[in-house]
Amino acid sequence: MEEHNRRNALKIGGVLGALGALSAAGSAHARPLWTWSPGGSVAGTGAGVDPRWVWDPEADDLVASLLDRGEVPRVNELLRTWTTNSQPLPDGLPSDLRDFLEQARALPSWADQAKLDQAYDFTERRGLYLGLLYGMASGMMSTVIPKEARAVYHSYGGANMKDRISKTAKLGYDIGTRNAYRPDGEMIVTCVKTRLVHAGVRHLLPQSPHWNRVAPEDVPISQADIMVTWHSLATTVRQNLVEWQVPIPPVDSEAYLHSWQVTAHMLGVDDEYIPASWDEADAQAKQVLDPVLEPTPEGNNLAQILMNIGPDNGAFSEPLIGAFTRYVLGDRIADWLLIPREPVYDPMLRTFWPPFIAARELGVHFPGAPETYWMFDEFLRQAVLLYLSEGERISIEIPQGNRPS
Ligand code: HEM
Repeated sequence: MEEHNRRNALKIGGVLGALGALSAAGSAHARPLWTWSPGGSVAGTGAGVDPRWVWDPEADDLVASLLDRGEVPRVNELLRTWTTNSQPLPDGLPSDLRDFLEQARALPSWADQAKLDQAYDFTERRGLYLGLLYGMASGMMSTVIPKEARAVYHSYGGANMKDRISKTAKLGYDIGTRNAYRPDGEMIVTCVKTRLVHAGVRHLLPQSPHWNRVAPEDVPISQADIMVTWHSLATTVRQNLVEWQVPIPPVDSEAYLHSWQVTAHMLGVDDEYIPASWDEADAQAKQVLDPVLEPTPEGNNLAQILMNIGPDNGAFSEPLIGAFTRYVLGDRIADWLLIPREPVYDPMLRTFWPPFIAARELGVHFPGAPETYWMFDEFLRQAVLLYLSEGERISIEIPQGNRPS
């Protein structure tokens, strides 16, 4: 039962958190110069070019060409059967795509399977918190990352958020599985397919008059944008766990970071932009994430959808989601998202959440009002109900158009 809850909580975390991943970065104009040093990256060195002007040229040229050649429907169909990391590519793929995939599926030389195994161990022990934070912190934060929100809203998937969310959730789920990056896992395939999707979006969104009207950039999803979203996931989750005083031994902390470092690489981010430590990650996030947060009409629309995503009963109700969002992201962001103040839940979370976590960590029975603690526990558990695609095969596919209107 616990395992079931954990898996599902991770899924919903994946759902909303990856939705976060769907969206990225505020007014480019307002963003300060890039001064984060490649010396703090997993590469340890680099040219230090501002990643706002770096995309993914290899994947971008390839997918643009596939779209121009009209080959995307056939490619999507063929790739539907490619699901596990070590599985040979399906026959019949265009040779340029095949060459790209063979090279893109290779893990970086610095990937460390022992750390990835440890990351799973950590995820298993902390699954409920991670799921909740991917959803409530990362997922909701994505809606105030303007470039991400606009890209998500105006791309094809923006018109069908449920489908979109389930696809995005796949990445949030796969990263937490035991064999994520092992031969029988699915995370490599998920990342590489996502890389193709992002390349498709880079080609297609600039053709959308709606996106062009509102976007400050000419081409979406730069490497800086991907790192912004990365921080809204990994860095934000880790910062919240620290704030909640959830004990994270260094070996877990490093392993969790590592699984996200490998993920960034597999999504096409250059190693010189991937932080080598949490200190470096915090410093980079301060520079690229914090200053871009801002409300947009698109983001507020997405936030509304997220708030209403669960069944309208039980503990996982819109008011509690709203209160939790306010609790983890603060008044400024909650007010941007027009989340109403909750006279009961807001003070309840402020008062009882810290002792709830402390008691959970100590494995003791909760002192004080048992109903409140039961509700928190139920809130964690009911996250499971939000994810609707249990058992369904989800296929991440290259888009062929934008949101029609
Ligand atoms: C699609 C993950 C960064 C915009 C996806 C998908 C995943 C994903 C799993 C596939 C879902 C689908 O096909 O619907 C991530 C992760 C990121 C990241 C893990 C960073 C760590 C970004 C950024 C942007 C973005 C920075 C925009 C600025 C999009 C869009 C789509 C998409 C528009 C969907 C295209 C469509 O189907 O209409 N992303 N993403 N993503 N992503 Fe990302």
